[in-house]
Amino acid sequence: MGRLKVMPGALEKIAECKLPRELNFGKIIAPAYIECDYKDGKWGELKLVPYAPLHLGPEAKVFHYGQEIFEGLKAYYTDRQGPFLFRPDQNATRFNLSAQRLGMPEFPIADFLESVTAMAHYCKEIIPTKSGESLYLRPCMIATEESLGIKPGLTYKYFVIASPSGPYFTGDSIKVYIERERARACPGGIGAAKTGGNYAASLVSGKRAQELGCGQTLWLDAVNKRYIEEMSGMNFMCVIEGIIYTPAMTDTILDGITRKSIIQLAQDFGMHVVEDKMDINKLLEQVAQGKCTEAFACGTAAIITPIRGFVEGNGKELAFKSADSKIAMKLRQELLDRQEGRKTAPANWRVLINAN
Ligand SMILES: Cc1ncc(COP(=O)(O)O)c(C=O)c1O
Repeated sequence: MGRLKVMPGALEKIAECKLPRELNFGKIIAPAYIECDYKDGKWGELKLVPYAPLHLGPEAKVFHYGQEIFEGLKAYYTDRQGPFLFRPDQNATRFNLSAQRLGMPEFPIADFLESVTAMAHYCKEIIPTKSGESLYLRPCMIATEESLGIKPGLTYKYFVIASPSGPYFTGDSIKVYIERERARACPGGIGAAKTGGNYAASLVSGKRAQELGCGQTLWLDAVNKRYIEEMSGMNFMCVIEGIIYTPAMTDTILDGITRKSIIQLAQDFGMHVVEDKMDINKLLEQVAQGKCTEAFACGTAAIITPIRGFVEGNGKELAFKSADSKIAMKLRQELLDRQEGRKTAPANWRVLINAN
């Protein structure tokens, strides 16, 4: 079939793995992972190996210049249906867009798909089976060349780790902190790439968000500090007078696969979706007037998580008048039904892993 080699000990380690009853997000890492090294202009063997720390010189470029990209997708095995992956081809394509932006070699789409499929296949028995739980897969590429010159590395490592995970947020909804001073991404920058630097830029604000009781930071555009972009790890949507609004894609926003799937689903249900510039101050007025009735975060980790209010840096809070989040919760269920195998999904959305 594919070119993956299973190395001694990897399957035994997975077979020994027992899941605890309480699963957090991203805390438990599967005891085997996939790796592939790049040198002399080519990718080498694709291998499933027992989990072990990486050995890298402290001068490896990834540590100094942040030449790193990643993806996030889930394997679903709810009620032992599946396992399924959701639109992994989209992750593969986005991975290579990130690679291009960071001056890294592309990873062959077929190898990306084989690696995530193999993780779902070999880790089938450690995929949690409750709805909303999953095996979170994290493909990653780092520059491993041990040299301090500021230029793209000559050697790289691709790897995929897996984490049997529960929901990303513990509560049913979140408040979001409106970041009006700092910026996450700027035009022409790396905001649309899935790379560590964007997350590094968000962490201080994430700390402030936490102090304010918020689950995420809401980022505004870097130039006007006015137009909503996205959150630190998910996209933004809201409902105004029955219409779904989401910021139009720019090069400062990650093009979310959940976002585009929700847009398609909502349109299939006959709902109107508008992708446009969204002024934060206008939106807050609409929330206060009761015209904007819902907002929600969407992403692979968050699925769809309702936003119950917005918080400013000075602690001033604006909550939604009603907390029923009807449209968000309907879309969340419809999306999960397609990801977890209860409803027919559009072509190529749900990929069944042949895991005998
Ligand atoms: C910054 C950012 N925006 C949006 C998303 C949502 O993207 P997706 O739906 O593809 O997971 C994510 C999550 O991966 C993210 O990290």
